[in-house]
Formats: sequence, structure tokens, C-alpha cells
Amino acid sequence: MPSTAEVRARTGGHEVRRIIYSEAEIAERVAEMGRDITAAYPDGDLLVLGLLKGSFIFLSDLVRTIQRPIQVDFLVAASYGDAKVSSGTVRLLYDPETRLEGKHILLVEDIIDTGKTMKRLMALLGPRRPRSMAICALLDKQLATDIRPELRFVGFRAPPAFLVGYGLDHAENYRHLPFIADLA
Ligand code: IMP
Ligand code: MG
Repeated sequence: MPSTAEVRARTGGHEVRRIIYSEAEIAERVAEMGRDITAAYPDGDLLVLGLLKGSFIFLSDLVRTIQRPIQVDFLVAASYGDAKVSSGTVRLLYDPETRLEGKHILLVEDIIDTGKTMKRLMALLGPRRPRSMAICALLDKQLATDIRPELRFVGFRAPPAFLVGYGLDHAENYRHLPFIADLA
């Protein structure tokens, strides 16, 4: 675990309440997820779609643990802005150029909060006739809402706090932290 001084050096002095998942814990879990994904797709084309920006670190670690051919592309959806609360509106700012038809699609997300973002994206991409579509999320806050999408691969059941690090941000800050922390 990094010392308080090391954390402060990275955050500009801002305190984090607690480190929830260490760099080593994340690496171990991501490797397991890669093995699960490899086993879950014995055949067919697999297109891994990373939802930017939050998934960028998770995705880059995850794809290197998948031991089968894959394609990687990205989606950019805007939902939160700088607020800590979900607005429920999702806009697609970048649409993947890769064809989805006939392929297994794995949507990779950093964290599922209300699930609205993923639910909306599944509805948007469904008509492109993929062979299958599944969600892989590093973190799941497990909020009980009626619109929750089905999560096929989940890294950790996260506490209901506002988390930062390993790609997760607050107003674009803290994405670079190698661990995941509860923002004080
Ligand atoms: P949902 O649509 O409510 O599931 O919101 C999911 C999106 O909100 C994710 O793509 C995250 O970028 C963002 N988000 C949700 N919870 C957190 C958090 O604790 N820290 C940082 N971003 C979060
Ligand atoms: Mg975000």
C-alpha cells in the first residue's frame, strides 16, 4: 500500500478516505476476468468495446489477459459531467467504426451505478444485430433499480461510495491513481 505522502503527491494534497482496492488486488482480479472471458468465448468473432473514458485503464489491462483473437474499439458516452449524481441522460459522442453484425460484443465499463448508461447502450447497439452482447464491469455498486442490465463479468461488488482511481474520475481528476479509493 502506498504511504499517505505518496497518495498526497499524486492527488495534490487531497486526502482519500480509504484505499478500497489495491493495485495488486486489481491485477489479480483482472487476470481472473481475462481467463473467464477467454473461456466464455470458445468460438466466433469477439469485439471488445471499451466505454470511454472511465474504462481506459481497466480495458488496457484486461485485453492483455484475454488469450484468444479479439478486436478492440471504443464508445464514448457522456452521462455525468462533473456531478457526483447520475443524470440519467446518455449521449453517444463516438460511435464504433467496427461492424457489430454477427460478432460477440463485450461492452467494458469501469463502474455500474444505476445501470442507466449500459442499459441505454445495449438498446442503441442491439439493432446492429450482434451475435451476442454482454457487459463486463470492473465494479458494480449493485443499486437496486428496475432498469439494471444483466452483468456477465464483474470484478468487484463495490461499496456505495464515490470511487476514484484506475480510470475512475471526479471532474477528470484522479484517473491516474493505480489503486481505487473512496473520495473523501
Ligand atoms: P450509471 O449509468 O448510473 O450506471 O453510471 C455509470 C457511469 O457513471 C460510469 O460510466 C462512471 O463513469 C460514472 N460513475 C458512477 N459511479 C461512479 C463513481 O463512484 N466514481 C466515478 N464515476 C462513477
Ligand atoms: Mg465517469
